[in-house]
Amino acid sequence: MGEEITLNITRYNPDKDGKYTTQRYSIPYKNDWSILDALNYVKAELDGSLTYRWSCRMAVCGSCGMMVNGTPRLTCSTYLNEFYPKEITIEPLANFPVIRDLVVDINDFMAKLKSAKPWIIRKNKRDEDDTSKEYLQTTGQMDKYYQQTLCINCTLCYAACPVYGLHPDFLGPAVIALGHRYNKDSRDEGKADRREVLASEHGVWKCTVVGDCTEVCPKHVDPSAAIQRTKVDSAINWFFSFLTGRK
Ligand code: SF4
Ligand code: FES
Repeated sequence: MGEEITLNITRYNPDKDGKYTTQRYSIPYKNDWSILDALNYVKAELDGSLTYRWSCRMAVCGSCGMMVNGTPRLTCSTYLNEFYPKEITIEPLANFPVIRDLVVDINDFMAKLKSAKPWIIRKNKRDEDDTSKEYLQTTGQMDKYYQQTLCINCTLCYAACPVYGLHPDFLGPAVIALGHRYNKDSRDEGKADRREVLASEHGVWKCTVVGDCTEVCPKHVDPSAAIQRTKVDSAINWFFSFLTGRK
């Protein structure tokens, strides 16, 4: 018999007993298997009822996030060889309601994302519809927001954020980072439209700069830095409106 590795996987079925349990599976150890490959082995060979979410298998779609030994990770780009021969514990992403086994409900995140208007807004609405228009941009202008365009909405930063864990109303790292991304885009004119949400009581000022969001982000978006920059922008705007009386 070849080498084996043990996975401890959270099971939860609201239609059965609604209790969280941990199930142990011994599977063959393959040096080049990702955690997602291991879950696919369990589902195909040992237990077809195991439920989890994935799609691209290449760290692009953002759907395979889970807690791996207590840390939010993309399971398609986290490999067994990082842990072998130790056991691996796989749980649903922290801070989200669980739908079943390793699948969490991200509706709250999606609603918050929409509220920050992560798209280009033009003051003249005809500009948005006119596809013949070009908005040229220098590489320097693009550099101002490029890092945040790398976000894949995987929500690992929400699972890592202690503030979101304590205050579910907090907009959270990725939503603020994406609002910041459009605020910094030279083609955008929607800063004022986003301000109400980003600088609200549930926005940037709730962040206590723990920085765990940046630690776990698989795309190096650095949401923590984006939040702090948005704080600076909000403070400048507040000071300016205080001086001028303009909103
Ligand atoms: S900021 Fe990073 S961790 Fe958060 S959703 Fe985007 S890619 Fe994922
Ligand atoms: S399966 Fe798409 S990011 Fe992992």
